Amino acid sequence: MTSYLNRYSMHTRTCGQLRTEDADPTQDVILCGWVGHRRDHGGLIFVDLRDRTGIAQIVFDPDVCSPEVFAAGERMRPEWVLRVSGYVRNRPEGTANPDMATGEVELMVREVEVLNTSETPPFAIVDGIETDELTRLHWRYLDIRRPEVLSALRLRSDVAAALHAALNKRGFLEVETPILGRSTPEGARDYLVPSRVNQGRFYALPQSPQLYKQLLMVGGVERYYQIARCFRDEDLRADRQPEFTQLDLEMSFISEDNVLDLMEAVMWEVLEAAGVAVAEHPDLGEARLTSVPVETGVQDTVSFPLPRMCYREAMGRFGNDRPDIRFGLELVDISELVADCGFKVFSGAVKAGGVVKAINAKGAGSLSRGEIDKLGEVALSHGAKGMAWIAFAADGEAKSPIIKFLGSEVLEAIKLALDVDPGDLVVFGADSFDVVSASLSAVRLALADVLGIERAGHRLCWVVDFPLFKYDAEAKRFVANHHPFTLVKAEDVDKLETDPAACGSYSYDLIMDGHEVGGGTLRIHSRELQLRVLRAMGFTEEEAEDQFGFLLDALAFGAPPHGGIALGLDRLIMLLGGFESLRDVIAFPKTSSGGDPLTGAPTTVEPRQLRELGIRLS
Ligand code: AMO
Ligand code: AMP
Repeated sequence: MTSYLNRYSMHTRTCGQLRTEDADPTQDVILCGWVGHRRDHGGLIFVDLRDRTGIAQIVFDPDVCSPEVFAAGERMRPEWVLRVSGYVRNRPEGTANPDMATGEVELMVREVEVLNTSETPPFAIVDGIETDELTRLHWRYLDIRRPEVLSALRLRSDVAAALHAALNKRGFLEVETPILGRSTPEGARDYLVPSRVNQGRFYALPQSPQLYKQLLMVGGVERYYQIARCFRDEDLRADRQPEFTQLDLEMSFISEDNVLDLMEAVMWEVLEAAGVAVAEHPDLGEARLTSVPVETGVQDTVSFPLPRMCYREAMGRFGNDRPDIRFGLELVDISELVADCGFKVFSGAVKAGGVVKAINAKGAGSLSRGEIDKLGEVALSHGAKGMAWIAFAADGEAKSPIIKFLGSEVLEAIKLALDVDPGDLVVFGADSFDVVSASLSAVRLALADVLGIERAGHRLCWVVDFPLFKYDAEAKRFVANHHPFTLVKAEDVDKLETDPAACGSYSYDLIMDGHEVGGGTLRIHSRELQLRVLRAMGFTEEEAEDQFGFLLDALAFGAPPHGGIALGLDRLIMLLGGFESLRDVIAFPKTSSGGDPLTGAPTTVEPRQLRELGIRLS
């Protein structure tokens, strides 16, 4: 790569590339780059010259260069742009810098050309600065000059290249789908674009290419992919951006296993391209024979096939459908044990149809009251009414305000169920299944932090078999769990009208380190079934025709069985690169309020522009 960098350019070497092999007083090389640190040392001037490959030390020495060139060296200021030529030499004995890749050599400048000068930058162009993010984003082009920011863009490019290669060689066609599309009511809020020539009408930016890719399957494309920009007007979080990128794919004539196996083969190549240790190449041929159960813990290498668990198991064991499986701290259901106990919080929750669950935090019995209270606050902030606990001292004595209500028999049963040893801490949640899941899964993560549990490396797994619907209490109707085009499990088709809540679906999420990095489903390919699912969601025939008529029509013309998946590319890069936020892996990201500090978007527009669109602001 680096040798190619020197072709079609003004330089013959890149800064980060210089090594002792290049040391040769008879051979001049040319570097281009930006001025970093400059040091004047009794008649010699040392400048760190930086380009995208690294930093080289260049030396202005009056014995080597002309007085004019030396004078130019004295004028250098940070971020000036130079083209220098000279020869490479080994640094004198004792002056090598082992912390630099190029630390054994330096370039002795013979000629210098100042290609541009620069204002003093608002922050130092080095890694590890503490400058606030808004300032960095305002000057993002300077931020990108910093090696750690550039490395994220490089990783992104490498992963995208691996994805292209992996899918191209497996017969996928890359097809672009429209950005100006049709607004559909299901899903997140749309970004709307007014039409000038059709006043009062709006395009919507795609939340994903979902319907277009299904239409491509009806069109016989059979294997489609696209690195697609998606737009969702949602409330932002660290792992959400209003515009983000998916690796989107769709396949015809496949089973669920086919999609998962394909995706694993692709992920294997992606992880390898990103420098992650992967164990062995998955069998790319036949559908898998075994389903690997999920065992928790860190692993040195990511091994294939990836373990799988169903949604119910994930919710049961972790209280969460995107569990971080690099550590245990699993939830244990003790509802039966405490159904009739004297602690009313527990027995009451069970009688009200809820559950009581507990986590044994091994070795956490010595946490202070203050630390336990903090965990309790985490539970409260996730909807719990409290977080009961029992701390076991080193001598096994149980300490807790609730023991006198539980009674010794129930206490012994709990100890047995949770495999309690002296020195452990058991925390409890008692409420509806949803509240206990949400609060204890948050406590689980907080416990891992408090206890400093190791979470190095990466763990991936599949969570499969999500319910087809979830109930929207506000709208008083069932809504799609994934999207309305998801195929209902064959054995549940009959329950669509009678018991929608019990319907399962062919669906799968790819989970990495506690994040959902991908999700997909098999799709409905029968017009009749699609109508039944929309009806179960409260659509009348007219509403269904009005909003999804084009899809229903397409399904009526020989749609093949199909399914697919989309990876959240930004999330994947964030995790692979060990970055904290999606903003770190997007060249020009939006802030949490959806703004771009660099360009100032979104901005007001000229009254004339609004008039042309037939829009009046209220
Ligand atoms: P889904 O909505 O699950 O599925 O999205 C797929 C993946 O995209 C990522 N993602 C996001 N990343 C950053 N910011 C966001 N706001 C954001 N929202 C989602 C996640 C997620 O797993 N059409 C379907 C896919 C399919 O069924 O094939 C879809 O869009 O990593
Ligand atoms: P109380 O009887 O309300 O004083 O609660 C006694 C203990 O039970 C306290 O530690 C509370 O935090 C805890 N607690 C109260 N409600 C719940 C609940 N729904 N789930 C788990 N623990 C609870």
